[in-house]
Amino acid sequence: MQPITDALARAAATAGYAPSIHNSQPWHWRVHDEVLDLYADHSRRLGITDPDGRLAVLSCGAALHHARTALSAQGWDARVIRLPEAAEADHLATITTAGRIPVTARALRRVQTIEIRHTDRRPVTATPVDGDRLSAVMAAVEREGARLHVVPAGRIVELASAVSFAQRTEAAEEAWRAELAYWTGGTRPTGTGVPDAAIPDRPTQTTVASRDFGHAGALPVSAEHDTGATFAILYGEQDCATGWLRAGEALSDAWLTATELGLSVLPLSAATEVPATRLALRRLLADLGEPYLVLRLGVADPDHAGAPHTPRLRADQTIERP
Ligand SMILES: Cc1cc2nc3c(=O)[nH]c(=O)nc-3n(C[C@H](O)[C@H](O)[C@H](O)COP(=O)(O)O)c2cc1C
Repeated sequence: MQPITDALARAAATAGYAPSIHNSQPWHWRVHDEVLDLYADHSRRLGITDPDGRLAVLSCGAALHHARTALSAQGWDARVIRLPEAAEADHLATITTAGRIPVTARALRRVQTIEIRHTDRRPVTATPVDGDRLSAVMAAVEREGARLHVVPAGRIVELASAVSFAQRTEAAEEAWRAELAYWTGGTRPTGTGVPDAAIPDRPTQTTVASRDFGHAGALPVSAEHDTGATFAILYGEQDCATGWLRAGEALSDAWLTATELGLSVLPLSAATEVPATRLALRRLLADLGEPYLVLRLGVADPDHAGAPHTPRLRADQTIERP
């Protein structure tokens, strides 16, 4: 195999570590002719929770950023064309390489961070997130063309009530409950979904409610209240596939940056899944942009690694090679 094709296939495999809504991994990669194409895979889309595909495309954006990161660490200058075919909405990106670049220590460290990043749903420690670390996470988001709005203390109640309303609205719908159970219960397809080991064994004490998975998991959590948490809204200019894809790339960069700085990131997507609460988030942003995702940021407990890693599909299930 040619070295570039080999590097592209390896980048697609590394992208498999990316976070995704309910660990659905809604991506499909095609390696051909020294090109890596990214497609959204409808067979793993959440039709009830995410009818427009916002969170599926956002998850694919995170995978795209992981692939770009992996190519840099292999010394390839990655070039990306986003939404390359106007008539083919599922074709999200085309990656090519534009020659060799020096492999930096930072790029190598980033790929290691990809393997250790994970979602930690336990309460964060009481230590508040300091300005320097928050600025680094914000800079990562902005590097990828999105923005981060830190919700001020005086408006947290508004955010909390939007998230609670969204969760109640969703839980009232039988089809929605069935979809959640499919991805988080015993029937989830092998290599996907959220296992009990990553779900708290009792509701966590928090100002803004975390996802209610409909059942208790097996992740031991303390009775601490996450008073040290910072809540922020990831947002941008466009409420369309380009905006969602860039938001996913920004989420990946921000999460890897946070992980390297000892911060935990917990996405809370319920309020962007329900149209009425998406509007409420827009108002919280003073109509400055389109809300993509609520994030809880906090100082991770250095003494505990947290939940074990969630499973992933095999590379040959998501990567097509001629
Ligand atoms: C777009 C998106 C939305 C998510 N929404 C939530 C959420 O509302 N609540 C939650 O606990 N986790 C949420 N997650 C985290 C995923 O469940 C997690 O990434 C997935 O299970 C894989 O696990 P890992 O991040 O530990 O690798 C979200 C992730 C993404 C990318």
